[in-house]
Amino acid sequence: MQLLDGKFVSEKLKERIAIEAAEILKNTGRKPHLVAILVGHDGGSETYVASKIKNCEKVGFNSTLYRFENTITEEELLHKIDEVNKDPETDGILVQLPLPKHISADKVTEKISPEKDVDGFHPVNLGRMQRNLPSFLPATPYGILLMLQEYGIDTAGKHCVVVGRSNIVGSPMSILMARNTNPGNCTVTICHSKTPDIKKYSLDADILIVAIGKKNFITADMVKEGAIVIDVGMNRETSSETKSGFKLYGDVDFEHVAPKSSWITPVPGGVGLMTIVGLLKNTLASAKKEIY
Ligand code: GUN
Repeated sequence: MQLLDGKFVSEKLKERIAIEAAEILKNTGRKPHLVAILVGHDGGSETYVASKIKNCEKVGFNSTLYRFENTITEEELLHKIDEVNKDPETDGILVQLPLPKHISADKVTEKISPEKDVDGFHPVNLGRMQRNLPSFLPATPYGILLMLQEYGIDTAGKHCVVVGRSNIVGSPMSILMARNTNPGNCTVTICHSKTPDIKKYSLDADILIVAIGKKNFITADMVKEGAIVIDVGMNRETSSETKSGFKLYGDVDFEHVAPKSSWITPVPGGVGLMTIVGLLKNTLASAKKEIY
């Protein structure tokens, strides 16, 4: 078993991003600029957004965080997005999900200008991704591709089973792994909550990507000997063992699955850190006008 070490790879890639950001500053007099919008006080979202802002600073980007209470109306939020869309000093915009029930995540996602949609959630970017045209890739799937690339893992011809079909991870991940690209060129199976016997499919996976949001969902009996296992799970539980008061668990029973796998991501220290890299790379690409 070898570890797909998100900490090591993310630090290495962030060093490269910082070099490019410094070049942009030298050549244009401005830093790439990310705007993050956070509504409410969801514990997970607070942590993730704080990490995104901190990492912007680390690589020499500007960042702005707009915070709103849960009472903000959909109209007010859409108006704010419109304002940031038009701001020439902003390269990337993200609205942290989930949003309160009275606000449509679809409307918000579609309001963000595709040219600044560094989360890659806008239908224009998703469509362009599917067609293999230049686009912002959703940050988590992008981070996973970067990780596979850094470790030189050849995915062509492999059977990739994606567990979960969310807009943020499972769905775009399955498209990316099936595309005629490297990483990619896999035969892809998508499993989800209505799949009657996930084990039947997961046992045949050469590459198993799990984004279902259930602690220890994938057990050792569900994994083929020598499989590559990517755990996207971010299940937070309160804990007296950690300084933050929370402990993070993946969707994979790491202790028992790791000995069977050829490569595996830990949680924490795996995919979560790579998501940030995906976001930073998109923001950099936007500042360099590489996509649009
Ligand atoms: N919520 C969970 N993951 C993400 C993400 O990658 N971007 C945003 N905006 N919200 C999320």
